[in-house]
Amino acid sequence: MPEDAEGPSYNADGVAQLEAIWGEGFMSPGGADEVARIVAGAGIAGADVLEIGSGIGGAAIELAIEHHARSVTGVDVEAYVVERATERAPVGANIRFIVIEPGPLPFADESFDVVFSKDVIIHVADKKALYAEAYRVLRPGGRLCVGDWLRGEGDIFDALVETFITNSGEEFYMQTLADLGSIVASVGFSDIELEDRRDWYLDEAQHELARLRSSLRDHLVERLGQQSYDATVVFWETLVDALQQGAFRPGHVRARKP
Ligand SMILES: C[S@@+](CC[C@H](N)C(=O)[O-])C[C@H]1O[C@@H](n2cnc3c(N)ncnc32)[C@H](O)[C@@H]1O
Repeated sequence: MPEDAEGPSYNADGVAQLEAIWGEGFMSPGGADEVARIVAGAGIAGADVLEIGSGIGGAAIELAIEHHARSVTGVDVEAYVVERATERAPVGANIRFIVIEPGPLPFADESFDVVFSKDVIIHVADKKALYAEAYRVLRPGGRLCVGDWLRGEGDIFDALVETFITNSGEEFYMQTLADLGSIVASVGFSDIELEDRRDWYLDEAQHELARLRSSLRDHLVERLGQQSYDATVVFWETLVDALQQGAFRPGHVRARKP
C-alpha cells in the first residue's frame, strides 16, 4: 500500500474500522448470511475446506461451527490478521490459520473438498494462476465457492473505480462477472454458476454510509482520528456512487471440479 494512502487497509486500525462497519470477525460485507449464500449447495458439512484470504476469521469459524465443516484451513498473506483469526478460533474446533506468500498454495494436489474465498481475489493480479491453484488443491468433485468485488461492463468503470482504488490505498484488480466465469472455465471447472450481488450491496452500502455518518461516527473518530474518519466517509461515498452507476458489482461464482 502506498505510504501516504488513507482509507481501509489491513493493519490494526484498518481492521478495527472494517469490523465496526461489517461486524465482529468480518472484513467484508454481509456477515454470516452472505457466507451461507456463497456456499449454498456446496455440502460443507463433513468437508475439508480451504479459505483463501481468511482475514480475521469470521467466515472460517462460521463454516466450522455453523456449517459443520470437518476442517477449515484459512490462509492469508497478512500476519496481523492471521494472528487475530487464530486468537478468535474456538478451542477444539478443527480450524487453523496460516500465513502464506502470494503465489502457489502450500498444499498437495487434491487436499480439500471445498475452496472458499470472499472479497480477496480482487487483490490478486494473476487470477488465472490463483484459480488454477484452487483447482489443483481440490479433490475430484470438489467445489469452488467465491464472492468477489467485480467491475461492471462498459466505460463508466474507469474514472469512478480509479477514484475508489486511489481512496482505498489497496491494490485492486477488478474483472467482470463474465470474465470471472471464463477464467474459472479455462482452468477446468464445470457447472459454473454466476450471481450478481450489486442490488443487494447497493442497499447495504447506503445503510453503511448512513451509519458511518451517525452511530459509528464518534467511535471511529476516537479510534482513528478525524482525518482518517473523513477519508473513510469519502471512500464509502465513492463506493455507493460506483454501485449506483453499476461500475462496481460484487458477485459470486460457484463451480465444481469434474
Ligand atoms: C477484504 S479482506 C477479506 C477478508 C475475509 N475474507 C473476510 O471476508 O472477512 C481481504 C483479505 O485478503 C487478504 N489477501 C490479499 N491478497 C491475498 C492473497 N494473494 N492470498 C491470500 N490472501 C490475500 C488480505 O490480507 C485480507 O485479509
